[in-house]
Amino acid sequence: MVFDHPEFDGHQQVTFVSDDDTGLEAIVAIHHLRGPSAGGGVRFRPYATVDDALTDVLRLSRAMTYKMVLAGLRMGGAKSVIIGDPATDKTPALLQAFGRFIASLDGRYTAGPDVGTNADDMEILAEVTEHVAGRASGAGSTAPPTAVGVFNGIRATAAAAYGRETLDGRRVAVQGAGGVGSHLVGHLVEAGADVVVADVDPAKAEAVAERHGATVVGPDEILSAEVDILSPNAVGGVLDADTIPTIRATAICGGANNQLARSADGVALAERGILWAPDYVVSAGGAIAGSCELGFLTETQRDAMLDAIFSTTLDVLTEAISSQRPTDDVARDRVRALLAEERSETAST
Ligand SMILES: NC(=O)c1ccc[n+]([C@@H]2O[C@H](COP(=O)([O-])OP(=O)(O)OC[C@H]3O[C@@H](n4cnc5c(N)ncnc54)[C@H](O)[C@@H]3O)[C@@H](O)[C@H]2O)c1
Repeated sequence: MVFDHPEFDGHQQVTFVSDDDTGLEAIVAIHHLRGPSAGGGVRFRPYATVDDALTDVLRLSRAMTYKMVLAGLRMGGAKSVIIGDPATDKTPALLQAFGRFIASLDGRYTAGPDVGTNADDMEILAEVTEHVAGRASGAGSTAPPTAVGVFNGIRATAAAAYGRETLDGRRVAVQGAGGVGSHLVGHLVEAGADVVVADVDPAKAEAVAERHGATVVGPDEILSAEVDILSPNAVGGVLDADTIPTIRATAICGGANNQLARSADGVALAERGILWAPDYVVSAGGAIAGSCELGFLTETQRDAMLDAIFSTTLDVLTEAISSQRPTDDVARDRVRALLAEERSETAST
């Protein structure tokens, strides 16, 4: 029963979508409706079980609400997953069938790219629904603005952890040399950081290292690299009971969604004295750019919101340090307080 699922967390709508003609099997989760729509990417992955897909979409969708609220965006949080291997199962007909379902939601859900989908796929969805951002003919990939936001988050993390935001001479380990990781490495090197990078696809890591002047290490070495800051930008769940004891960095800040395998891992990081910038605080750049593409923000507002990731991250981390609480708890409390404030404002108007 979906209502009893441990990650359900009051989701407002969860829909299982299938289409026999194209083989589409998908789940769309709308965590919280707010403003003109609830936004979140379309993840295309070969999940082992439908329950794995459901768990992922519920966690991702809730994190989108947190991301929207903390970034100051007047949108709700949602996410969708398509179950399958994007390399073999992703066809224009399947994407259009999914797009028709999004159209039937009449604006409640706005899609964007995520792991396994890209700006060209969003173009195909847009043939049948207007509720799509991150299109090739629109703002394009959301990875570059996400990387800008993560870079601002890393500067704030350095300020909170070491008392100065400059990255000159700071050692940073970047896990994942995909859309976000590759742009992030460029910003870090430009800021004077000494960067090591890893990807399960070694050719990607080597190309990024060569382009920007970074050093490649193996994917098994990156989480325990001897650096100041670790930046996960690959997959979720990388911070767990096995990896946390091996981490040598003193701070962590990256764009990968849902980095904690369980919320207790946030406590374990705090107990080890590792300052973790919650992913949903720093990875809002794509959502911010998508909102601008949809006309909900001006370019000036977009740029101001990307810049504000610095101050929001610094505020959360500073409060966590001074109150000696896990950063995840501080950030979640902020989301709850902002939503409660919003509800009381709505009630009084
Ligand atoms: N693109 C966005 O706008 C955006 C926005 C917010 C959050 N995120 C999150 O950031 C992360 C990266 O997104 P992306 O768009 O760059 O995805 P991507 O698919 O372009 O890149 C991910 C990279 O990680 C590599 N990888 C996978 N597992 C790995 C491992 N164990 N070790 C090292 N490398 C590994 C992949 O080979 C790939 O190159 C994802 O978790 C995504 O959900 C992305």
